[in-house]
Amino acid sequence: MRIGIISDLHVDKNNIDGQTSVQEAVSRIALEQETDLLIVAGDVSNDYRYTLDVLQEIEHRTGKPCLFVPGNHDIWNIGHPLENAWHAYEALQRYDSNLTNAPYPLGPDWIVICDIGWYDYSFGSPAFTVDDYGRME
Ligand SMILES: [Fe+2]
Repeated sequence: MRIGIISDLHVDKNNIDGQTSVQEAVSRIALEQETDLLIVAGDVSNDYRYTLDVLQEIEHRTGKPCLFVPGNHDIWNIGHPLENAWHAYEALQRYDSNLTNAPYPLGPDWIVICDIGWYDYSFGSPAFTVDDYGRME
């Protein structure tokens, strides 16, 4: 099985009008490399709606599963201050190939298990308390 893995597409920063989009380039390379599936390991964009559109475009262009685990940017609510990160996280779970929904079997001996870890405060700066992090949703 050939698996393509990529992260940090940041299409809202890297897509430039008049040029090949990041998702077009990723899809073309996946087809050229004859991958059986892709795994996008977070940070497609700063807006979950745009992230969903890009993931669906990649699946459509390649005709292959485009597995996904959200990154911190995918659940940011900077463009939608009335929505919190949980809203974005749950909206992204409507994407069938979102790995936070369930493990994905690759065959009899392998599965892919993923979830976002941004809110694991054990990796956070000791300059903040757990309560400080809780208020940073
Ligand atoms: Fe990133």
